[in-house]
Amino acid sequence: MSDTDPKKKRTGRKRATSHAAAAKSVSIEPAGVEPPPKVLPYSDIDVSRWRDYEHIETGSLWTINARDRQNGHQLDYHGNCVPQILTQLLTRYTKQDEVILDLFLGSGTSAIEAVNLGRKAVGVELKPDMAAYVRGKLEEQGKAEQVGIINGDSSNAAWTGKAIQRTLKQFGKEQADFLFLHPPYADIIRFSDSENDLSNAADTEGFLDMFGNVCQLGFDMLAPGRFAGLVIGDKYAAGELIPLGFLCMERMNRVGFKTKSIIVKNISGNEKAKGRMSNLWRYRALVGGFYIFKHEYVFLFQKPKSAKR
Ligand SMILES: C[S@@+](CC[C@H](N)C(=O)[O-])C[C@H]1O[C@@H](n2cnc3c(N)ncnc32)[C@H](O)[C@@H]1O
Repeated sequence: MSDTDPKKKRTGRKRATSHAAAAKSVSIEPAGVEPPPKVLPYSDIDVSRWRDYEHIETGSLWTINARDRQNGHQLDYHGNCVPQILTQLLTRYTKQDEVILDLFLGSGTSAIEAVNLGRKAVGVELKPDMAAYVRGKLEEQGKAEQVGIINGDSSNAAWTGKAIQRTLKQFGKEQADFLFLHPPYADIIRFSDSENDLSNAADTEGFLDMFGNVCQLGFDMLAPGRFAGLVIGDKYAAGELIPLGFLCMERMNRVGFKTKSIIVKNISGNEKAKGRMSNLWRYRALVGGFYIFKHEYVFLFQKPKSAKR
């Protein structure tokens, strides 16, 4: 039974017993009568049963302490995101059988979670070895048929755009139903030696220009009215905070995306450095007069329904 199965047992649902409580209740139906399902155009969540979705986040502060390591997920790539971000986003913003597009596939977290949830995925990754590794991993897990992997440069709209369209067509789609972006956080982790790798941009402006090209490609490949998630953190350089998150949000807005939410997510669950290293960072923070990053962002955007396809 899926999370969004209308037959799922109701839990924790209390009926309004007084006028005051009834006034606060969203739907009031006679005892024993199920309200008609109310499903949004971009999700399988039945909002008439909104009380049943306690596991679905609606707040802008996400505390995820332990990485999900089940159903094919593993910490096998420095810089991969926690799967629960995808669980949340894909459950809220996609339907069964729909196709998501990830323009920075990395170790394939989005693709694995998409298939786990009964969706399909198209992913672009610059590094040939990583693309091959994810293909192998998905084959081992029996998930390869639902995922199209493109080894390419997401900042090159001409070549990669055509490859994405060909792959979407194989799934019977003209455009994707959800866009996921988890770019390098500028040069914090250097992913390769390629000059097309966003982590090798000469400076912040160079990084943002490359990211802007990716935003445009993502916008063009996404169906109007549909949503995009961007995961990114900020960085320090030469004693100054560089607000990469907000700078990237602005690049998304420039190409036409509307910002819907800014979610702050803890990163303490991701930290590898324990003990001596975290003491060193505490020392550096005290000496340098700054605060250690304990959060990153999940930005949520929508492509306007009125946007040209
Ligand atoms: C932060 S990681 C993504 C991690 C991924 N979400 C995961 O969970 O494994 C960023 C990825 O973007 C890739 N990348 C960098 N520049 C790229 C580009 N121009 N086109 C496509 N991928 C790129 C890097 O090789 C790296 O694998």
